Amino acid sequence: AIYPTASEAVKIVAKEVANLITSKAQKGEMCVLGLATGSSPIPFYKELVRMHKEEGLSFKNVVTFNLDEYYPMEPTAKQSYVRFMNENLFDHIDILPENVNIPDGTLPVDKVTDFCKKYDAKIDSYGGLDLQVLGIGRTGHIGFNEPGSLLNSPTRMVSLDPLTRFDAASDFGGEENVPRKAITMGVASIMKAKRIVLFAWGDAKAEIIRKAVEGPVSEQIPTTFLQLHPNTNILCDFGAAMEL
Ligand code: GLP
Repeated sequence: AIYPTASEAVKIVAKEVANLITSKAQKGEMCVLGLATGSSPIPFYKELVRMHKEEGLSFKNVVTFNLDEYYPMEPTAKQSYVRFMNENLFDHIDILPENVNIPDGTLPVDKVTDFCKKYDAKIDSYGGLDLQVLGIGRTGHIGFNEPGSLLNSPTRMVSLDPLTRFDAASDFGGEENVPRKAITMGVASIMKAKRIVLFAWGDAKAEIIRKAVEGPVSEQIPTTFLQLHPNTNILCDFGAAMEL
């Protein structure tokens, strides 16, 4: 779907998420959300915070699973996705801290595989993700599933693509400081979500959006796997939709 601006698009998704949360709350059920970092979801989180503050939307029945985290990464570091989520969303809403899940960038390397298995199992134990929010990297990654990631890939440790590290350089004060690895929810974990919403804003995303939407399904561009998902919406502003 194409909207003139990001702020118009995110309002529609925030409304959908709010309805999901409240209808689950009425049934006494948890709402299971998969969340993303990066600049793309920021206006969406702003709108959720506004709905909490102005409309009384409660997140007490919400459990969240974030897509990814750099490895290694301390949660207090400026670039950590833990810190990003706290600053952009969790510090401003009434979600219970025990319901927040983010891949752990502080684990010793020999504990990562076990952590990832448990992460996927924990998502399954809630009956899977009700809705997954995604951004898209210029490599066509979702989460940190870089080119080469398979459709059946689980949550795991991955190596970051050079273009991803280049794009992250300004956050880290130089490319040489960007971690080489990350822990990411797998393509399989993402594809199991009942509903997926991908945000893409600005003309820097236009080329990869064209390939993701119109190109053949291929592990060379992991976002193309979303073409196989029965309930995915890709939301673009005019800039990101320019090459469609
Ligand atoms: C990072 C994140 C992705 C995100 C991508 C695009 O690589 N791990 O989840 O989609 O950046 O970021 P932005 O939304 O800032 O363009």
